[in-house]
Amino acid sequence: MEQILVTGGAGFIGSNFVHYLLENTDVSVTVLDSLTYAGNRMSLFGLDDKRFRLVVGDICDASLVDTLVAVADAVVHYAAESHNDNSLHDPRPFLETNIIGTFTLLEAARKHQVRFHHISTDEVYGDLELDDPERFTESTPYYPSSPYSSTKAGSDLLVRAWVRSFGLQATLSNCSNNYGPYQHVEKFIPRQITNVIDGVRPKLYGSGKNVRDWIHANDHSSAVWAILNRGRIGETYLVGADGEKNNKEVIQAILNIMGQPTDSFDHVADRPGHDLRYAIDSTKLRTELGWSPAYGDFASGLESTITWYKDNEFWWRPQKATTESKYLQQGQ
Ligand code: NAD
Ligand code: DAU
Repeated sequence: MEQILVTGGAGFIGSNFVHYLLENTDVSVTVLDSLTYAGNRMSLFGLDDKRFRLVVGDICDASLVDTLVAVADAVVHYAAESHNDNSLHDPRPFLETNIIGTFTLLEAARKHQVRFHHISTDEVYGDLELDDPERFTESTPYYPSSPYSSTKAGSDLLVRAWVRSFGLQATLSNCSNNYGPYQHVEKFIPRQITNVIDGVRPKLYGSGKNVRDWIHANDHSSAVWAILNRGRIGETYLVGADGEKNNKEVIQAILNIMGQPTDSFDHVADRPGHDLRYAIDSTKLRTELGWSPAYGDFASGLESTITWYKDNEFWWRPQKATTESKYLQQGQ
């Protein structure tokens, strides 16, 4: 594998993957990204231009996609509309990018017989009760709740159909909640960190008992690289780092690290249809491919993420006011 096409590589997890590839492998990378509100060229600033280029374009543009896929050895597909709250207010872009965009890439990968890896989410499985001893596995039935997660579920099924019907050389991974550098300030952890920097109290949806299973974006990248190289074609791998925490605990951890009283947050309107708990059993990935996370400890990963947001205000500041005014209109 010499040339990898990374879709959505100017977004949060995609840009972390591009940094991972340039630091840990010899491959060259082309990023295809339409730079929506969530994409940021500055996330790719300073990368070696002998091994990296950014093509600004839409994954729904069949002719552009065909040209780029034709010269790639592999496609790693991150591009998506990714925010649940946005999908509740305007679902159409989610159908366009997540379904039609994935279809467009699959057709090009089929035509040029290019290895394909599809990035997906644990949200396709719906949610768990707080006291459920089971966690999601690769055989958990799909039961998505939001427009976002249902379009991701749809895209997963398209990939599986292209493997079975057309022999596409594809793998899939479904990961839990990522945190780390370059995450848009609309998302939970960066929103609260940047609120505290701005002297604003963090905002907790509903009771705050909802549990997410946190993994550092670098660990997600190493998992994807392992699957791309050693994963079995047609297989799905769940990616998670045993990082279950409820939202109230996460806000309190941020306040604590940032030297604020741990009760200085506000409860705001809950998200409609808010999934209660996600939890990943990543045994298959660990035993079959020998993967394990490097960030064993959520507290230290969170601390380095807070330091990154303090040090990189130039990166997030331009999006902060618009994001908060959108939340204000939603009562959140
Ligand atoms: P993000 O919103 O930060 O980035 C998405 C990127 O895709 C942006 O750069 C955006 O410009 C680009 N994009 C959107 N529509 C496009 C289009 N039509 N054509 C080309 N580019 C387009 O998202 P993220 O959080 O980095 O998520 C990346 C992928 O990982 C998604 O597929 C998401 O479903 C999946 N995922 C995310 C998480 C998480 O915790 N954030 C967890 C599991 C899986
Ligand atoms: O599980 C993987 C998914 O994780 C990915 O597929 C999604 O792309 C990604 O956005 C993320 O989805 P969530 O909806 O879990 O992430 P979000 O950061 O929006 O919210 C995390 C939790 O925090 C969720 O329970 C809602 C809550 N929340 C969120 C915000 C923005 C708050 O309590 N307050 C907030 O201000």
